[in-house]
Amino acid sequence: MFNTNTINRFQQLETPFYYYDLDVLRKTLEACRSAASKYGFHVHYAMKANFNPKVLDVIQSFGFGADCVSGNEVKAAIEHGFGKDKVVFAGVGKSDKEINLALDADIFCFNVESVQELYIINDLAKAKNKIAKVAIRINPNVDAHTHHFITTGLDENKFGINTWQLPDVIAALKECASLKFLGIHFHIGSQITDMEVYKNLCTRINEMQDWFTDHGFEIKVLNTGGGLGVDYHNPDNNIADFESYFKVFSQFLNVKPGQEVHFELGRALVAQSASLISRVLYVKNGIKKNFLVLDAGMTELIRPMLYQAYHQIENISRTESEQTVHYDVVGPICESTDCFQKDVELPQSYRGDLLAIRTAGAYGEVMASGYNLRDIVGSVYSE
Ligand code: LLP
Repeated sequence: MFNTNTINRFQQLETPFYYYDLDVLRKTLEACRSAASKYGFHVHYAMKANFNPKVLDVIQSFGFGADCVSGNEVKAAIEHGFGKDKVVFAGVGKSDKEINLALDADIFCFNVESVQELYIINDLAKAKNKIAKVAIRINPNVDAHTHHFITTGLDENKFGINTWQLPDVIAALKECASLKFLGIHFHIGSQITDMEVYKNLCTRINEMQDWFTDHGFEIKVLNTGGGLGVDYHNPDNNIADFESYFKVFSQFLNVKPGQEVHFELGRALVAQSASLISRVLYVKNGIKKNFLVLDAGMTELIRPMLYQAYHQIENISRTESEQTVHYDVVGPICESTDCFQKDVELPQSYRGDLLAIRTAGAYGEVMASGYNLRDIVGSVYSE
């Protein structure tokens, strides 16, 4: 994946940093755009996955909308040229300040996550003499078969409105004159690779839209959320399976004339476009364990520590043919959990070697922290 010139370039740079391959990013975006356009589907980029300014500019240039979960994301989306008519705003805890900001920005749609939120948005919109467009985020109780920390669509999760509360939603919508109902929204989890899960989601969406229609509400927007997974074990096989993903929805979603189908993809668009590049600081050879202590840790990429997530680790200073050793690859942070992976087979490694932690473009840089008063991780681009 990394050619000699790139590795030579890395040698000159201070580590750790995120390396963005903008070519991979563009190829991924093109694959998604072309697969979605076959069916006229609308794709919003879930900004939470990566809001690096350069990444946002590239994504915006492909014509995607933006899916935001904070007022600052709404602001950044608009500043980066995502049209306000393509901005959606979800989140269980939108503050009044954030709602006001989104109202002032005239965004396309609020994805509303509780009955109480409907009344609050109505009041704030009324005070501004505006009409807020809303979709109801429904918790469909569909199992995403992914890590339980990134499952969102089960009854036990805090997200969305449970189906037993839908009569209250209808009552609120009838009462709230400053709201315009656009449709229904779902998001059941992340890193989903089993297309059967999406088929089940389609069945639930069809039931839900029938329910709303039966209660006299016309649905214009069906927003299915995001969640499409990527192959963390094959970082060079880097285009997510957009074809199969959109095909499932085209086959199983009951789309009525005039309806729009919306998606909110994050990970699948950006994950494979970045690696975290780090240097080996120390090699500790013990009786039970060999440790490679890197200059990057959970402050730069927290996914392995938070979700037991797998990221392929490569020593890009050595060739595969060299003698291999099993290492626990750890960071410098004062926490035992600061370990990228245990028992990784790598070429024998030395202080100063460069390691690439792959598939780090989604939920990597954006989840970095300053814990231990560390420097904020930098970014380097292929061009
Ligand atoms: N829409 C909503 C309402 C969401 O909450 C999310 C992600 C997405 C769309 C985009 O999902 P994606 O296509 O990226 O799977 N930090 C975790 C993932 C958290 C996902 C949060 N919500 C991780 O590193 O795996």
